[in-house]
Amino acid sequence: MNRRIVLASRPTAAPGPENFRLETVPVPQPGPGEVLIRNHWLSLDPYMRGRMSTSKSYADPHPLDAVMLGGTVGVVEASRHDGFAVGDTVLAFGGWQEYALVGGDGLRMVHRIDPGLAPMQRYLGALGMPGMTAWYGLHRIIEPKSGETVVVSAASGAVGMVVGQLAKAAGCRVVGVAGGPDKCAFVTQELGFDACLDHKALTDPRDFDAALAAAAPAGVDGCFENVGGMVFEGTLRRMNAFGRVAVCGMIAGYNGEPVPLKDPTVILRSRLKVQGFIISENPADMMEAFRELAGLHGAGRLRYRETVADGLEAAPEAFFGLLKGHNFGKQLVRLVPGA
Ligand SMILES: NC(=O)c1ccc[n+]([C@@H]2O[C@H](COP(=O)([O-])OP(=O)(O)OC[C@H]3O[C@@H](n4cnc5c(N)ncnc54)[C@H](OP(=O)(O)O)[C@@H]3O)[C@@H](O)[C@H]2O)c1
Repeated sequence: MNRRIVLASRPTAAPGPENFRLETVPVPQPGPGEVLIRNHWLSLDPYMRGRMSTSKSYADPHPLDAVMLGGTVGVVEASRHDGFAVGDTVLAFGGWQEYALVGGDGLRMVHRIDPGLAPMQRYLGALGMPGMTAWYGLHRIIEPKSGETVVVSAASGAVGMVVGQLAKAAGCRVVGVAGGPDKCAFVTQELGFDACLDHKALTDPRDFDAALAAAAPAGVDGCFENVGGMVFEGTLRRMNAFGRVAVCGMIAGYNGEPVPLKDPTVILRSRLKVQGFIISENPADMMEAFRELAGLHGAGRLRYRETVADGLEAAPEAFFGLLKGHNFGKQLVRLVPGA
């Protein structure tokens, strides 16, 4: 049987268990041109919260009663398509379920991966969408020069971890912002960032400004923004003339909270370039991004941390936790015991 989780209703604030429904249905069998994948790992990502709503966004709302979308890695269990053989390890958009049947246009999102290069779940993290996101925002928007200072929020998370390490590899001073002393210790001691500010301890903007001034004495040239709110405003205040801001995410507002920017005049005063981006709209850069990420990973220079929830039924709670900062590193769900 195939267990799957569908979107049962739309949240108006923070999502809860009532928004999801676990179903058990027979495992489908592939018809001509189709492939059956057993999903080993499911990626949980903040963008999923946006798809649960009908508010205006860059993507259509997720349909009700349909299997929740999500990136997966797994193994081809049965194939009636010439391009895929039983046993192939694949990256796919298999969704919140144990088996995915893919055919037609959907196969454009199925890619064979090399499990010899890295553990397969790494293709959902440093070597996958979050890693590509980090690479694109840093190299194509911030365009860091050696000696410059880069600040990244949600620094211990799936994207932030990679941003900081790529910026260090580019010769920058790197300041992370993360929630709590354990995450900050990881960011500096394990990932090699130069400093990390604990936003939970620096809730007064004056304290945050003083801490950032000490951590970034020459000002900030690049801001990789994942969160929004007080930390974002403080970082903008510290930016040097002609600084670059890659607006990757605003997770502080994903449950509908306001994320005000009280003083946008800073953009003019410091002549900032501010650019939002969505990684899936930039496929042309992905091979170059993958080469650099895989090279650093292979050389042991891309450290990565994962938080693993076990079993499909654990996915909703893990997802709620991701939106509250309970994850420490890339949030994954292991769908096959021992995978
Ligand atoms: N533009 C794109 O194409 C693209 C692609 C991928 C991801 N993103 C965005 O990048 C950001 C990071 O994604 P990720 O996958 O790497 O997630 P993540 O950083 O692994 O996890 C989310 C982290 O955000 C922080 N957080 C959660 N809720 C928060 C809140 N209300 N206020 C402040 N901080 C909060 C927490 O870190 P702390 O405990 O350290 O606060 C949490 O661990 C998200 O905004 C996501 O939407 C964008």
